[in-house]
Amino acid sequence: MTLKLNQSKTIQKRYNRYSKYYDFLESPMELLFSKWKKELINYASCNVLEAGVGTGKNINLYPPYINITAIDFSEGMVKKAKRKFYTKKNITFHNIDIQQTEFEDNSFDTILASYVFCSVPDFVLGLREMRRICKDGGKIILLEHTRNDKVFLGKLVDLLNPLFIKLFGYNINRRTYENISNARFRNIDQKILWLAIFKLFIITNHK
Ligand SMILES: C[S@@+](CC[C@H](N)C(=O)[O-])C[C@H]1O[C@@H](n2cnc3c(N)ncnc32)[C@H](O)[C@@H]1O
Repeated sequence: MTLKLNQSKTIQKRYNRYSKYYDFLESPMELLFSKWKKELINYASCNVLEAGVGTGKNINLYPPYINITAIDFSEGMVKKAKRKFYTKKNITFHNIDIQQTEFEDNSFDTILASYVFCSVPDFVLGLREMRRICKDGGKIILLEHTRNDKVFLGKLVDLLNPLFIKLFGYNINRRTYENISNARFRNIDQKILWLAIFKLFIITNHK
């Protein structure tokens, strides 16, 4: 438990530091990511939680009638997102860890996250919390980059992973489908978006 807490603090610090340059550094990637993000946001319905909202890169993709609660465990990211979107009436931002929130059971119709579970310290804990706060029959949709299963590439990303954690705070070798199954979700669809690395996971929350 102490190890996980320390890990969370280290990753939070990295993202606090990264928040200053995040929009600039990620902008070339957005060319590739934006069409998948639109696909992710298409699943939004009624009361939405966006976990790991970062600087709010997805916010303008939501239709105005969606009620959005946006959380991130990096204070730096939340501050920046709040500054960018202070005029939006349908969104609230909170500095909260998805592994342990104080939302009531069944608070949300849909929970969305893009490129977040590569850095959540305890993947299964984060997903279990999502199951609790998402309504029965609601959807949890994750856009993620995952470990490539080809022998050579898989080994290569395993070797490079510690460097990515140190520099950016995220993993490049997470076995996302297995982690979702380990959190005891049974209704999981996955859509391969690119090279069996970038995937959209569509989970129906059955309690
Ligand atoms: C790679 S960024 C993605 C940001 C945004 N979703 C996007 O697509 O631009 C990952 C974000 O997840 C946040 N994050 C990681 N672990 C988290 C956790 N346990 N709870 C809440 N936010 C978390 C980080 O602080 C960071 O802002």
